[in-house]
Amino acid sequence: MLQQSVDPRHAINDEPLQLSVVIPTKNEAGNVEPLLERLGVALAGIEWEAIFVDDSSTDGTPELLTRIAQSDRRVRLIRRIGRRGLSSAVVEGALASTTPIVAVIDADLQHDEKVLPDLYRAIADKGHELAIGTRYAANGSTGEWAEDRLKISRFATALASPIMKTRLSDPMSGFFAVRRDILLEAAPRLSTVGYKILLDLVASHPRPLKVAEVGYTFGTRQHGESKLDEMVALEYLELLLDKAIGRFVPVKLVQFGAIGMLGVGVHLTLLYMAMNMVGAPFATSQALAVIGAMTFNFALNNKFTYRDQQLKGFAWVGGLFSFYLVCSLGAVANVGIGSLVYEQFHGWWIAGIAGAIVGSVWNYVASSWLTWTK
Ligand code: GDD
Ligand code: MN
Repeated sequence: MLQQSVDPRHAINDEPLQLSVVIPTKNEAGNVEPLLERLGVALAGIEWEAIFVDDSSTDGTPELLTRIAQSDRRVRLIRRIGRRGLSSAVVEGALASTTPIVAVIDADLQHDEKVLPDLYRAIADKGHELAIGTRYAANGSTGEWAEDRLKISRFATALASPIMKTRLSDPMSGFFAVRRDILLEAAPRLSTVGYKILLDLVASHPRPLKVAEVGYTFGTRQHGESKLDEMVALEYLELLLDKAIGRFVPVKLVQFGAIGMLGVGVHLTLLYMAMNMVGAPFATSQALAVIGAMTFNFALNNKFTYRDQQLKGFAWVGGLFSFYLVCSLGAVANVGIGSLVYEQFHGWWIAGIAGAIVGSVWNYVASSWLTWTK
């Protein structure tokens, strides 16, 4: 427990703050106090503060932090309601800091806080701009990881290499310190999608950074559970895609288009089944296939492309009908433009593709405005 009289964190003096430690939390009530105690020990001699950024925890984490922060001035809390996302939480915390150096550490004690002073000094004393905790170099280790997770992590790291301007042995690490002005320089270009804020940072900053790497062993979680789920892989791909092509095309449009292609497959399958297995006439079969494909596209876009503003329950049904409406107008645009192009060039497939592209872009723009409005 925290004992204020002997707690080294509580020694308040007039020294300027040197380091802000940003700590993202999502249901970490069991970890917050042990972490603060460990930080107090590890960071003795450095003037530091902790900035917690909590995303709608339901296990009492923000209430606990509020109580702690009332008596401990080294603890600050940013509470976000409804929003979710590790990267954006970290960025928000870092932007709220005023210290020259900002560090980021997980709340769940899996990052070794004893390495923090090394990260800090690499920047404060040795002139580096960024210092990362790494599991893949300098005596670092992944600890008790299963072979599968190791393979996935290595594969993800390899995928990242084309977009990294600064070479890092462990770009997936969420454990690092950075000069605040460097972070501010990168901030306008950050994607802040998903988990990988360090990768986002080195991909978004306009030039390679002077980086130091300090090894650490990834610990095993004691309390609470990991928030990594199936969506994390998708969010990772979104980050890579956004960094690679985001300046030219929105990632959501690419996802929308990819789902649209799958929708064409659904359409043809349904058409085939209705005609050949049920024996329905073409017009009926085609109508069924259109409705099936639209429903499929709506459901998938709602689950993936627009999962940040996902519709549920009644809103799902309302959204579906607005999507039907959008797509009907899209079909009109598709046929109209297709016919125009056909009259000009007489190439049936050019006309077909032109119509499909215009129709799809319409569907994308109009549905983002009518169906997923939040
Ligand atoms: N505010 C906020 N919002 N915090 C979150 C969210 C969120 O949506 N999701 C997770 N967190 C917090 C957790 O409470 C924890 O403190 C930290 O972010 C890491 O989350 P975990 O769910 O424990 O992730 P992990 O252990 O699987 O992933 C760690 O290892 C990765 C490398 O393999 C993290 O350190 C990642 O940053 C790192 O990339
Ligand atoms: Mn963890």
